[in-house]
Amino acid sequence: MLILGIETSCDETAAALVRAEDGALRVLADTVSSQIKIHAKWGGVVPSLAAREHVKNIVPVLDATFQKARLMPRDIDLIAVTHGPGLIPALLIGTNAAKTLAYLWHKPLLGIHHIEGHIYANFLSETGVNSQSQKPQIKFPILCLVVSGGHTQLILMQKHLDYEIIGETLDDAVGEAFDKAARILGLGYPGGPAIAAKAAELGIKNYELGNDTNKLRANEAKKLIKLPRPMIHKNNFDFSFSGLKTAVLYKVKELQKNNKNILHTEYQLLDAICDEFQQAAIDVLIHKTLRAAQKYNPQTIMLAGGVSANQELRRQLGEAIKSNLPNTKYQLPDTTYSIDNAAMIAAAGHFRWENMTARERTAALHAWKTLQADANLKIA
Ligand code: KG4
Ligand code: ZN
Repeated sequence: MLILGIETSCDETAAALVRAEDGALRVLADTVSSQIKIHAKWGGVVPSLAAREHVKNIVPVLDATFQKARLMPRDIDLIAVTHGPGLIPALLIGTNAAKTLAYLWHKPLLGIHHIEGHIYANFLSETGVNSQSQKPQIKFPILCLVVSGGHTQLILMQKHLDYEIIGETLDDAVGEAFDKAARILGLGYPGGPAIAAKAAELGIKNYELGNDTNKLRANEAKKLIKLPRPMIHKNNFDFSFSGLKTAVLYKVKELQKNNKNILHTEYQLLDAICDEFQQAAIDVLIHKTLRAAQKYNPQTIMLAGGVSANQELRRQLGEAIKSNLPNTKYQLPDTTYSIDNAAMIAAAGHFRWENMTARERTAALHAWKTLQADANLKIA
């Protein structure tokens, strides 16, 4: 089965062709046109600009995807498109493109929840376009830590396409907190990779960077910065990240009281703030995930969403699982498919199709008439 995936929920115009064969999902072509440079000037995604760029890019992105895979529209069996949640002007471009193609090509069409796509990025069986690796062996129940720019959730899955949200953020998503903290620190958009890169520069971690004096000064900078771990001891699986971002703002104001330029003049102070911010977020995420795992006994703990590209989160969660839950498997998406892409949407489309009755499959042939974009679509 060959699936065309389309994703336009935020600031990436993406299309992918994924082949499902013997239970494995191989990415044949994957195109992502990012608008980061356009939105960076504004410090975040501007919906009307995103829509304009999606309109400009959707046809070239689709064309490039078919060309890379050397396939024709007649070869595909299914179209899967993100229909929510996300920015409505952005979602409308992808869903309307998908509806038009489904009508013209007489193909079944499925609307996919964006987070379902992130989760199913873990089921893509290869680690790079055209590679040959095997289908991942993922056992249920799965406890999935979803960390993106719009979502922070702990989701329990007893079987495919079955989602129980056991905890979520009460305010900002963790990716959103990274982006807002980065803006406060003057690091630009998107904030996650910028903060992660600065944190990695902190000399006491990266010994090649400095001599002994510099290491001492980096240590001093680190001692100055202590940030809270919001809700870490609360007896539930919910999160809160807006206070962490505000704590960064207050810390920066306090430091700048006597020297406006202190973040740029004091050795590694900015790196130390980034390191502490990242560590505070990781500590809360890991603590709550392990506690949820102790209650629900999953066979697998899985990461999903854009923040799963964070190397420290990937490493530290892996170590925490190994030492606290040695019998639980740890499943990560390839970093290529951590951030928004359309291969993950095609993967989710495949699992939805596999679970559909003959009647539902026939209905999908007419979905071009009824499919709606929904900015607030719920997964469960
Ligand atoms: O899943 P995604 O691509 O889009 C949404 O569905 O929101 O996630 C984007 C989010 C942004 O907030 C971005 O700052 C964050 O993921 N992100 C990271 C990293 N790479 C992307 N956060 C921390 N560390 C990273 N390396
Ligand atoms: Zn996403």
